[in-house]
Amino acid sequence: MSLKRVFVTYRLPEDILRPLRGICDLEVWTGTKPMTPPELFSSICDSDGIICLLTDEITRSLLENQEKLNFISSMSVGVDHIDVAAATNRNILVGNTPGVLAETTADLAFGLLLSAARRIPEADKFVREGQWLSDMPWSPDFFLGKDVHGATLGVVGLGETGTAVARRGKAFGMRVLGWNRTQKKDVEHAELVQLDELLAESDYVSIHIARTSETLLFFNHERIMSMKKGAILINTARGGIVDETSLANALKIGHLAGAGMDVFEAEPLLPESKLLNLKNVVFSPHIGSATSLTRKRMAELAVENAVAVITGRRMPFCVNPEVYRSR
Ligand code: GLV
Repeated sequence: MSLKRVFVTYRLPEDILRPLRGICDLEVWTGTKPMTPPELFSSICDSDGIICLLTDEITRSLLENQEKLNFISSMSVGVDHIDVAAATNRNILVGNTPGVLAETTADLAFGLLLSAARRIPEADKFVREGQWLSDMPWSPDFFLGKDVHGATLGVVGLGETGTAVARRGKAFGMRVLGWNRTQKKDVEHAELVQLDELLAESDYVSIHIARTSETLLFFNHERIMSMKKGAILINTARGGIVDETSLANALKIGHLAGAGMDVFEAEPLLPESKLLNLKNVVFSPHIGSATSLTRKRMAELAVENAVAVITGRRMPFCVNPEVYRSR
């Protein structure tokens, strides 16, 4: 019997890929840029499985033409880049990498919160560019920011990452409010409140909901304007959840004091983005899970999902387990 063919869309380290060697016919993309949709299409056409990244858009139209594909294992916890409904319709298993990146992403969310509150990137630029030498060396109103301790943190979405952010908030001496789209009972580290109360009372709002058709532009003009005046908004969840035009306006008119943004409607962030002109936005380029250890764990889980399917076992981290019922 011929070996199953598995295509990997990124050069993962050989020691990570090792469990797949010998049990499948493995092909790894060697390009230095993300695959284009036609490249992705032609590469996976005759594959039994693919291991992909969150930059690989696996659309309905791409899946419609797949006869052979049995699984998609994404090296990410979010799967909004995959049309999971279309995959499920075609009995294609979709795997992800939960449980290993929440703490790392929570660290970044908190880093952005502290950076925006205390204007750290702005201060860094000031020192580097020699402006400190030409101005007053210190004054009582020099680089004033906002306190974090004693302030109220609102966590929108109390999954793994939201809960990890709430815990950090408590450790920093904050009052922590939490809201979740579906009802939660035993929430640790946060006081459960309605969304409008959270938005009205929080000095910092950190977003931790998934991007779905229901959460697109969830932070629209109205919700942003219903946030407390002078608040700071942090998004390490997904682009498209925040309406960036409304956010830029709210920052410009001083309704919000700042924002910390790791994810964007369009990635990479386009040079024409209105956010780029605002000093009170701290940026990072979608690096929530970017530590060596966490990325290694994510890659290992993505491979583990693939190995399970190839060896006839159940995918350990499957987002559409209903596919198993129709097999
Ligand atoms: C990162 O954004 C992920 O979904 O893994």
